[in-house]
Amino acid sequence: MAEIAPSVLGADFGHLEREINKADNAQVDMLHLDIMDGHFVPNISFGPGIVKTINNLTDTFLDVHLMLSQPERYFNAFKKAGADNITFHIEVHPNPVQYARIIKALGCQAGISLNPDTPVEHVLPYLEEFDFLLVMSVFPGFGGQSFIPSALQTITAARRFIDKEHLTTRIQVDGGIKSDNAPEVVAAGADILVMGTAFFQAEDSQSLTRQIQSL
Ligand code: DX5
Ligand code: ZN
Repeated sequence: MAEIAPSVLGADFGHLEREINKADNAQVDMLHLDIMDGHFVPNISFGPGIVKTINNLTDTFLDVHLMLSQPERYFNAFKKAGADNITFHIEVHPNPVQYARIIKALGCQAGISLNPDTPVEHVLPYLEEFDFLLVMSVFPGFGGQSFIPSALQTITAARRFIDKEHLTTRIQVDGGIKSDNAPEVVAAGADILVMGTAFFQAEDSQSLTRQIQSL
């Protein structure tokens, strides 16, 4: 059973309430919120104010993906805004354990993410501290990019390690996932699929959700 996490970056912000209701009506597993600072990634998205707005529209689990050079400056603000999980990137901090503990002390779950060109070995030693591993299958910054196939090897290696060590860390995959490549991503070992464009532009978001959840 895979889970689906629509990325609100792919939503129509002119009709945000309608878009959040669409995800709720489809009974998605969580909402993925992409936060970009124009420094760690070459794009700027939105901040805690919009997260709070979304939190007021839904009871769904809010999974906040921080693409920030200095994520630690904002952990508290996103927790206050309603984040249930906070994920940051290994590339900004070679030893992420301290940050994981700060996030958990705030009462959030914690996730660690890696870019497509970061070796999976960089995160494996720390996974026991994290609830989620977010494998990027595009270079972060923009929705609507194509899935990078080498992410499948990263997912496979992470799955093998998590199973061997009996960890509870769940693998999320983010970027370029559509209904046609979702099966191989799940077969490689993903637990949760982030889908921006594919979810919010789907003709039938409910049947897409059911399809993913049946994988
Ligand atoms: C990439 C973001 C993703 C992305 C997913 O920078 O982290 O969450 O928006 O969007 P799609 O599914 O359109 O690739
Ligand atoms: Zn993301």
